[in-house]
Amino acid sequence: MEKKIAVLKGDGIGPEVTDQALLVLNAIEKSFGHKFHYTEALVGAVAIDATGNPFPDETLKVCQSADAILFGAIGHPKYDNDPKAKVRPEQGLLAMRKALGLFANIRPVATYKILENASPLRADLVSGVDFVVFRELTGGIYFGTRGRSEDGNMAFDTCTYTRAEIERISKNAFEAARIRRNRVTLVDKANVLASSRLWREVVKEFHAAHYPDVELDFMFVDNAAMKIITQPAYFDVVLTENMFGDIITDEASVITGSMGMLPSASVGSAVALYEPIHGSYPEGAGKNIANPCAAILSAAMLLETSFGLLEEAKAIRNAVVKSLEDGIVTVDIRRENPSSTTEVGAYIAKLVEKNAKVTA
Ligand code: IPM
Ligand code: MN
Repeated sequence: MEKKIAVLKGDGIGPEVTDQALLVLNAIEKSFGHKFHYTEALVGAVAIDATGNPFPDETLKVCQSADAILFGAIGHPKYDNDPKAKVRPEQGLLAMRKALGLFANIRPVATYKILENASPLRADLVSGVDFVVFRELTGGIYFGTRGRSEDGNMAFDTCTYTRAEIERISKNAFEAARIRRNRVTLVDKANVLASSRLWREVVKEFHAAHYPDVELDFMFVDNAAMKIITQPAYFDVVLTENMFGDIITDEASVITGSMGMLPSASVGSAVALYEPIHGSYPEGAGKNIANPCAAILSAAMLLETSFGLLEEAKAIRNAVVKSLEDGIVTVDIRRENPSSTTEVGAYIAKLVEKNAKVTA
Protein backbone atom coordinates (compact mmCIF):
# COMPACT_ATOMS: atom_id res chain seq x y z
CA MET A 1 0.00 0.00 0.00
CA GLU A 2 1.24 3.49 -0.83
CA LYS A 3 -0.04 6.43 1.24
CA LYS A 4 0.69 10.06 2.05
CA ILE A 5 1.00 11.11 5.69
CA ALA A 6 1.18 14.72 6.84
CA VAL A 7 3.46 15.02 9.86
CA LEU A 8 2.79 17.92 12.23
CA LYS A 9 5.20 17.53 15.12
CA GLY A 10 4.30 20.82 16.80
CA ASP A 11 5.61 22.00 20.16
CA GLY A 12 7.20 20.76 23.37
CA ILE A 13 7.67 17.00 23.40
CA GLY A 14 5.66 16.73 20.15
CA PRO A 15 8.71 16.35 17.88
CA GLU A 16 10.42 13.79 20.14
CA VAL A 17 7.45 11.46 20.47
CA THR A 18 6.41 11.85 16.83
CA ASP A 19 9.92 10.83 15.74
CA GLN A 20 9.47 7.57 17.64
CA ALA A 21 6.09 6.98 15.97
CA LEU A 22 7.81 7.51 12.60
CA LEU A 23 10.50 5.02 13.54
CA VAL A 24 7.80 2.45 14.24
CA LEU A 25 5.99 3.29 10.99
CA ASN A 26 9.28 2.72 9.16
CA ALA A 27 9.46 -0.71 10.75
CA ILE A 28 5.91 -1.38 9.53
CA GLU A 29 6.81 -0.28 5.99
CA LYS A 30 9.80 -2.57 5.93
CA SER A 31 8.08 -5.57 7.48
CA PHE A 32 4.77 -5.41 5.65
CA GLY A 33 5.88 -3.98 2.31
CA HIS A 34 4.15 -0.58 2.36
CA LYS A 35 5.36 2.82 1.27
CA PHE A 36 4.46 5.91 3.26
CA HIS A 37 5.34 9.36 1.97
CA TYR A 38 5.76 11.93 4.72
CA THR A 39 5.36 15.68 4.42
CA GLU A 40 6.17 17.81 7.44
CA ALA A 41 4.34 21.05 8.18
CA LEU A 42 4.30 23.61 10.97
CA VAL A 43 1.62 24.05 13.63
CA GLY A 44 1.40 25.70 17.04
CA ALA A 45 4.01 27.92 18.70
CA VAL A 46 6.71 26.83 16.23
CA ALA A 47 4.43 28.00 13.41
CA ILE A 48 3.83 31.34 15.16
CA ASP A 49 7.57 31.82 15.53
CA ALA A 50 8.19 31.03 11.87
CA THR A 51 5.17 32.64 10.19
CA GLY A 52 3.12 34.55 12.78
CA ASN A 53 0.23 32.12 12.24
CA PRO A 54 -0.34 28.98 14.39
CA PHE A 55 -1.97 27.16 11.46
CA PRO A 56 -0.49 28.52 8.21
CA ASP A 57 -2.27 28.00 4.86
CA GLU A 58 0.63 25.88 3.70
CA THR A 59 -0.06 23.47 6.59
CA LEU A 60 -3.75 23.29 5.67
CA LYS A 61 -2.77 22.39 2.09
CA VAL A 62 -0.39 19.68 3.24
CA CYS A 63 -3.15 18.22 5.45
CA GLN A 64 -5.79 18.36 2.75
CA SER A 65 -3.65 16.52 0.25
CA ALA A 66 -2.62 13.79 2.70
CA ASP A 67 -4.35 10.46 3.37
CA ALA A 68 -3.90 10.91 7.13
CA ILE A 69 -2.28 13.30 9.60
CA LEU A 70 0.10 12.40 12.39
CA PHE A 71 0.16 15.13 15.00
CA GLY A 72 2.45 15.70 17.98
CA ALA A 73 1.29 18.43 20.36
CA ILE A 74 0.89 22.16 20.62
CA GLY A 75 1.24 24.70 23.39
CA HIS A 76 3.97 26.81 24.94
CA PRO A 77 4.15 28.31 28.45
CA LYS A 78 5.05 31.76 27.14
CA TYR A 79 1.45 32.03 25.87
CA ASP A 80 -0.24 30.31 28.84
CA ASN A 81 0.87 33.02 31.22
CA ASP A 82 -0.07 35.88 28.94
CA PRO A 83 -3.85 36.34 28.79
CA LYS A 84 -3.33 39.32 26.48
CA ALA A 85 -1.44 37.36 23.79
CA LYS A 86 -3.11 38.13 20.44
CA VAL A 87 -2.14 34.87 18.76
CA ARG A 88 -2.03 31.61 20.70
CA PRO A 89 -0.85 28.17 19.62
CA GLU A 90 -4.21 26.66 20.65
CA GLN A 91 -5.94 28.78 18.02
CA GLY A 92 -3.99 26.76 15.47
CA LEU A 93 -5.43 23.52 16.80
CA LEU A 94 -8.98 24.85 16.83
CA ALA A 95 -8.58 26.35 13.34
CA MET A 96 -7.24 23.06 12.09
CA ARG A 97 -10.15 21.07 13.56
CA LYS A 98 -12.62 23.45 11.98
CA ALA A 99 -10.91 23.74 8.59
CA LEU A 100 -10.57 19.96 8.22
CA GLY A 101 -14.07 19.28 9.58
CA LEU A 102 -12.77 17.00 12.33
CA PHE A 103 -16.02 16.85 14.25
CA ALA A 104 -15.47 13.67 16.27
CA ASN A 105 -12.63 13.22 18.70
CA ILE A 106 -12.23 9.59 19.67
CA ARG A 107 -10.36 8.90 22.90
CA PRO A 108 -10.09 5.28 23.96
CA VAL A 109 -9.35 4.65 27.64
CA ALA A 110 -8.05 1.15 28.14
CA THR A 111 -5.94 -0.09 31.01
CA TYR A 112 -2.95 -2.38 30.90
CA LYS A 113 -2.76 -5.15 33.50
CA ILE A 114 0.88 -4.34 34.11
CA LEU A 115 0.11 -0.67 34.88
CA GLU A 116 -2.76 -1.26 37.28
CA ASN A 117 -0.58 -0.46 40.25
CA ALA A 118 0.52 2.82 38.70
CA SER A 119 -3.07 4.09 38.69
CA PRO A 120 -4.11 6.58 41.38
CA LEU A 121 -7.17 4.33 41.79
CA ARG A 122 -7.24 0.93 43.51
CA ALA A 123 -6.33 -1.88 41.12
CA ASP A 124 -9.74 -3.56 41.60
CA LEU A 125 -11.46 -0.42 40.28
CA VAL A 126 -9.20 -0.07 37.26
CA SER A 127 -9.13 -3.71 36.27
CA GLY A 128 -10.88 -4.30 32.96
CA VAL A 129 -11.64 -0.65 32.27
CA ASP A 130 -12.16 -0.28 28.53
CA PHE A 131 -14.22 2.60 27.22
CA VAL A 132 -14.07 5.17 24.49
CA VAL A 133 -15.15 8.78 24.57
CA PHE A 134 -16.68 10.39 21.48
CA ARG A 135 -16.16 14.09 22.06
CA GLU A 136 -17.79 16.58 19.67
CA LEU A 137 -14.92 18.73 18.43
CA THR A 138 -16.04 21.56 16.17
CA GLY A 139 -19.00 23.08 18.00
CA GLY A 140 -20.20 24.21 21.40
CA ILE A 141 -18.62 26.82 23.61
CA TYR A 142 -15.23 26.45 21.93
CA PHE A 143 -16.64 27.98 18.76
CA GLY A 144 -19.59 30.08 19.98
CA THR A 145 -19.95 33.81 20.05
CA ARG A 146 -17.68 35.35 22.63
CA GLY A 147 -16.82 38.81 23.72
CA ARG A 148 -15.94 41.37 26.30
CA SER A 149 -17.81 44.49 27.34
CA GLU A 150 -16.32 47.84 26.48
CA ASP A 151 -15.34 48.59 30.07
CA GLY A 152 -13.69 45.17 30.24
CA ASN A 153 -15.67 44.09 33.30
CA MET A 154 -17.87 41.52 31.62
CA ALA A 155 -17.07 38.64 29.28
CA PHE A 156 -19.14 35.87 27.73
CA ASP A 157 -18.87 32.65 25.75
CA THR A 158 -21.90 30.96 24.26
CA CYS A 159 -22.56 27.27 23.72
CA THR A 160 -24.46 26.56 20.53
CA TYR A 161 -25.36 23.24 18.93
CA THR A 162 -27.50 22.24 15.99
CA ARG A 163 -29.44 19.01 15.41
CA ALA A 164 -27.17 18.16 12.46
CA GLU A 165 -24.00 18.52 14.55
CA ILE A 166 -25.42 16.22 17.22
CA GLU A 167 -26.68 13.61 14.79
CA ARG A 168 -23.45 13.20 12.84
CA ILE A 169 -21.33 12.37 15.89
CA SER A 170 -24.12 10.25 17.40
CA LYS A 171 -23.84 8.04 14.34
CA ASN A 172 -20.10 7.50 14.99
CA ALA A 173 -20.78 6.66 18.64
CA PHE A 174 -23.61 4.21 17.98
CA GLU A 175 -21.64 2.48 15.23
CA ALA A 176 -18.71 2.08 17.61
CA ALA A 177 -20.99 0.68 20.33
CA ARG A 178 -22.25 -2.04 17.99
CA ILE A 179 -18.79 -3.49 17.64
CA ARG A 180 -18.01 -3.04 21.34
CA ARG A 181 -20.28 -3.81 24.31
CA ASN A 182 -23.28 -2.14 22.73
CA ARG A 183 -23.91 0.71 25.15
CA VAL A 184 -23.80 4.47 24.68
CA THR A 185 -23.88 6.87 27.63
CA LEU A 186 -24.74 10.44 26.72
CA VAL A 187 -23.03 12.85 29.11
CA ASP A 188 -24.66 16.27 29.37
CA LYS A 189 -26.04 18.89 31.75
CA ALA A 190 -29.65 18.72 30.65
CA ASN A 191 -30.88 19.75 34.09
CA VAL A 192 -29.45 23.22 33.47
CA LEU A 193 -28.41 23.90 29.87
CA ALA A 194 -30.69 24.36 26.86
CA SER A 195 -27.97 23.03 24.55
CA SER A 196 -27.78 19.85 26.64
CA ARG A 197 -31.54 19.43 26.45
CA LEU A 198 -31.23 19.56 22.65
CA TRP A 199 -28.50 16.89 22.82
CA ARG A 200 -30.75 14.61 24.88
CA GLU A 201 -33.74 15.11 22.61
CA VAL A 202 -31.81 14.59 19.38
CA VAL A 203 -29.82 11.58 20.62
CA LYS A 204 -33.03 9.94 21.91
CA GLU A 205 -34.79 10.40 18.57
CA PHE A 206 -31.77 9.35 16.55
CA HIS A 207 -31.38 6.25 18.70
CA ALA A 208 -35.03 5.25 18.35
CA ALA A 209 -34.96 5.79 14.59
CA HIS A 210 -31.64 4.14 13.71
CA TYR A 211 -30.04 2.25 16.61
CA PRO A 212 -32.78 0.81 18.85
CA ASP A 213 -30.62 -2.32 19.32
CA VAL A 214 -27.95 -0.31 21.17
CA GLU A 215 -28.47 0.35 24.86
CA LEU A 216 -28.60 4.09 25.60
CA ASP A 217 -28.43 5.87 28.94
CA PHE A 218 -27.96 9.45 30.11
CA MET A 219 -25.73 10.92 32.77
CA PHE A 220 -25.17 14.45 34.01
CA VAL A 221 -21.57 15.51 33.58
CA ASP A 222 -20.96 16.07 37.31
CA ASN A 223 -22.18 12.59 38.04
CA ALA A 224 -20.11 11.18 35.18
CA ALA A 225 -17.02 12.85 36.65
CA MET A 226 -17.62 10.90 39.88
CA LYS A 227 -18.44 7.66 38.14
CA ILE A 228 -15.19 7.77 36.14
CA ILE A 229 -13.28 7.41 39.40
CA THR A 230 -15.72 5.32 41.44
CA GLN A 231 -16.82 2.83 38.77
CA PRO A 232 -14.91 3.40 35.53
CA ALA A 233 -15.62 -0.13 34.29
CA TYR A 234 -19.26 0.94 33.92
CA PHE A 235 -18.63 2.80 30.67
CA ASP A 236 -18.50 1.47 27.13
CA VAL A 237 -19.07 4.35 24.69
CA VAL A 238 -19.39 7.86 26.11
CA LEU A 239 -20.88 10.50 23.85
CA THR A 240 -20.56 14.14 24.81
CA GLU A 241 -20.19 17.73 23.69
CA ASN A 242 -16.92 19.58 23.23
CA MET A 243 -16.04 21.07 26.62
CA PHE A 244 -17.42 18.25 28.78
CA GLY A 245 -15.42 15.90 26.59
CA ASP A 246 -12.27 17.94 27.06
CA ILE A 247 -12.57 17.76 30.83
CA ILE A 248 -13.66 14.17 31.34
CA THR A 249 -11.09 12.76 28.92
CA ASP A 250 -8.27 14.32 30.93
CA GLU A 251 -9.81 12.82 34.06
CA ALA A 252 -10.23 9.46 32.38
CA SER A 253 -6.71 9.45 31.00
CA VAL A 254 -4.97 9.43 34.38
CA ILE A 255 -6.84 6.44 35.79
CA THR A 256 -4.95 4.16 33.42
CA GLY A 257 -1.70 4.74 35.26
CA SER A 258 -0.10 6.94 32.64
CA MET A 259 -1.51 9.56 30.35
CA GLY A 260 1.55 8.85 28.23
CA MET A 261 -0.10 5.69 26.94
CA LEU A 262 -3.23 7.15 25.37
CA PRO A 263 -3.72 7.82 21.65
CA SER A 264 -6.62 9.60 19.99
CA ALA A 265 -8.18 10.16 16.63
CA SER A 266 -10.08 13.13 15.26
CA VAL A 267 -12.27 12.23 12.33
CA GLY A 268 -14.70 13.96 10.02
CA SER A 269 -15.79 13.35 6.49
CA ALA A 270 -12.34 13.65 4.88
CA VAL A 271 -8.78 13.25 6.18
CA ALA A 272 -8.40 12.20 9.84
CA LEU A 273 -5.84 13.26 12.43
CA TYR A 274 -4.11 11.14 15.07
CA GLU A 275 -2.41 12.46 18.18
CA PRO A 276 -1.30 11.48 21.66
CA ILE A 277 -3.62 13.05 24.21
CA HIS A 278 -0.86 14.16 26.61
CA GLY A 279 -0.17 17.57 25.09
CA SER A 280 3.14 19.42 24.74
CA TYR A 281 4.55 18.90 28.29
CA PRO A 282 7.04 21.77 27.89
CA GLU A 283 8.91 20.92 31.11
CA GLY A 284 9.89 17.60 29.57
CA ALA A 285 10.85 18.91 26.14
CA GLY A 286 14.34 18.19 24.84
CA LYS A 287 15.17 15.85 27.73
CA ASN A 288 14.50 12.54 26.01
CA ILE A 289 12.22 11.49 28.89
CA ALA A 290 8.71 11.67 27.38
CA ASN A 291 6.73 8.48 26.92
CA PRO A 292 6.47 7.85 23.15
CA CYS A 293 3.81 5.13 23.52
CA ALA A 294 0.80 7.41 23.03
CA ALA A 295 2.30 8.73 19.79
CA ILE A 296 3.21 5.21 18.67
CA LEU A 297 -0.30 3.97 19.48
CA SER A 298 -1.70 6.96 17.58
CA ALA A 299 0.20 5.71 14.54
CA ALA A 300 -1.46 2.31 15.11
CA MET A 301 -4.89 3.98 15.19
CA LEU A 302 -3.99 5.79 11.97
CA LEU A 303 -3.09 2.56 10.19
CA GLU A 304 -6.25 0.88 11.40
CA THR A 305 -8.79 3.67 10.98
CA SER A 306 -7.56 5.56 7.92
CA PHE A 307 -5.82 2.78 5.98
CA GLY A 308 -7.66 -0.35 7.17
CA LEU A 309 -4.34 -2.01 8.08
CA LEU A 310 -5.57 -4.11 11.00
CA GLU A 311 -2.67 -6.58 11.19
CA GLU A 312 -0.13 -3.78 11.16
CA ALA A 313 -1.98 -1.90 13.93
CA LYS A 314 -2.10 -5.08 15.97
CA ALA A 315 1.62 -5.63 15.48
CA ILE A 316 2.28 -2.19 16.97
CA ARG A 317 -0.06 -2.71 19.92
CA ASN A 318 1.46 -6.09 20.70
CA ALA A 319 4.94 -4.56 20.62
CA VAL A 320 3.87 -1.80 23.01
CA VAL A 321 2.45 -4.33 25.48
CA LYS A 322 5.62 -6.42 25.21
CA SER A 323 7.82 -3.38 25.89
CA LEU A 324 5.80 -2.74 29.07
CA GLU A 325 6.15 -6.37 30.12
CA ASP A 326 9.87 -6.28 29.43
CA GLY A 327 10.19 -3.19 31.61
CA ILE A 328 11.42 -0.95 28.80
CA VAL A 329 9.47 2.06 30.05
CA THR A 330 9.91 5.79 30.53
CA VAL A 331 10.06 7.63 33.84
CA ASP A 332 6.30 8.31 34.04
CA ILE A 333 5.85 4.57 34.49
CA ARG A 334 8.93 3.63 36.50
CA ARG A 335 10.99 6.13 38.47
CA GLU A 336 13.97 3.89 39.08
CA ASN A 337 16.23 3.28 36.16
CA PRO A 338 13.82 4.31 33.40
CA SER A 339 14.48 4.05 29.68
CA SER A 340 14.61 7.16 27.51
CA THR A 341 12.14 8.20 24.80
CA THR A 342 14.47 7.03 22.05
CA GLU A 343 15.25 3.73 23.80
CA VAL A 344 11.57 2.89 24.14
CA GLY A 345 10.89 3.88 20.51
CA ALA A 346 13.80 1.83 19.18
CA TYR A 347 12.78 -1.16 21.30
CA ILE A 348 9.21 -1.12 20.02
CA ALA A 349 10.33 -0.64 16.39
CA LYS A 350 12.70 -3.64 16.75
CA LEU A 351 9.93 -5.77 18.23
CA VAL A 352 7.64 -4.91 15.32
CA GLU A 353 10.28 -6.03 12.85
CA LYS A 354 11.21 -9.15 14.77
CA ASN A 355 7.63 -10.33 15.20
CA ALA A 356 6.81 -9.66 11.57
CA LYS A 357 9.74 -11.91 10.57
CA VAL A 358 8.54 -14.68 12.85
CA THR A 359 4.99 -14.66 11.48
CA ALA A 360 6.04 -14.16 7.81
C1 IPM B 1 -7.29 18.92 23.89
C2 IPM B 1 -6.64 20.20 24.34
C3 IPM B 1 -7.21 21.34 23.50
C4 IPM B 1 -8.70 21.39 23.75
C5 IPM B 1 -6.55 22.69 23.77
C6 IPM B 1 -5.06 22.65 23.61
C7 IPM B 1 -7.16 23.77 22.91
O1 IPM B 1 -6.83 20.41 25.69
O2 IPM B 1 -7.08 18.52 22.72
O3 IPM B 1 -8.01 18.31 24.67
O4 IPM B 1 -9.14 21.99 24.73
O5 IPM B 1 -9.44 20.85 22.94
MN1 MN C 1 -7.88 18.78 26.69
